[in-house]
Amino acid sequence: MLRRIPILTKVTAVVIGVYILIRFVIHPPLPFSLVLMYMTLTVIGVLVYVSIYDDVWRDFVTPIAEFFRGATGKGLVWSAARGVVLVGIPFLVGYGFYQKVMPSLDPPAEQRVVHPAPPFEVTGLNNPLRHQPDKYQDYLRLGAKVYFQNCVFCHGDRFDGEGEFAHGFNLPPANFMDPGTIAQLQESFVFWRVSTGGPGLPAESKPWNSAMPRWQERLSETERWAVIMFLYEQTGSKPRTWH
Ligand code: HEC
Repeated sequence: MLRRIPILTKVTAVVIGVYILIRFVIHPPLPFSLVLMYMTLTVIGVLVYVSIYDDVWRDFVTPIAEFFRGATGKGLVWSAARGVVLVGIPFLVGYGFYQKVMPSLDPPAEQRVVHPAPPFEVTGLNNPLRHQPDKYQDYLRLGAKVYFQNCVFCHGDRFDGEGEFAHGFNLPPANFMDPGTIAQLQESFVFWRVSTGGPGLPAESKPWNSAMPRWQERLSETERWAVIMFLYEQTGSKPRTWH
């Protein structure tokens, strides 16, 4: 009984059956590359099976050859079916290839951590300048000088991240007026960011490169604490504390 089923039908049923099994039955779902690999192996196995005996092979290829030769049937439906196969398969292959090589304009799907955890040494640092109330105004003046000599080009003279150079950068310079930046950060964190800049950011804050310079190479510690104090003063915000 089973022998009377044409070999081509049997083989097709096996391939479809295997596909359904690994695509829909197995859980959790397999990645596409694995499905592709198993299907390739299945097709190779089936081809080995049908090509062992000459008569089986003939039974296998004859209906395919007849289909393309037009011997299977006449009429519009059969011609249309041939057309679909002959045009459709090259089209699908070409379309798949096109999809693969076409450059994508979508940004990478990675999420960027804007405020990553700072290194351990930084947490809990206090701004030493705040313990010298009599010199507060001097330090603010120093901070203003540092800001307008170094930071204003990117962070802007209104502290809104709209400096002269700002539009040349992606990531944009931080907007200190925004409650999402220094107002919600501890001073130690800001000190760390000013000191080590974009290069100091950990991997979870990539893949975009930050243009924020490493100020520890240019500014003394006092200058860095002073400019931070100046920023809080000018934006009317207070550093976050644990109290
Ligand atoms: C070349 C442009 C540039 C200059 C100059 C610059 N910055 Fe930045 N800064 C950036 C960019 C871009 C970011 C946002 C990306 C990031 O967080 O690294 C940033 C982020 C920051 C942040 C982090 C804010 C947050 O919410 O995490 C601080 C603080 C900061 N800058 C302070 C300064 C100070 C102080 C100076 C001057 C001493 C300065 N920047 C000079 C480009 C600049």
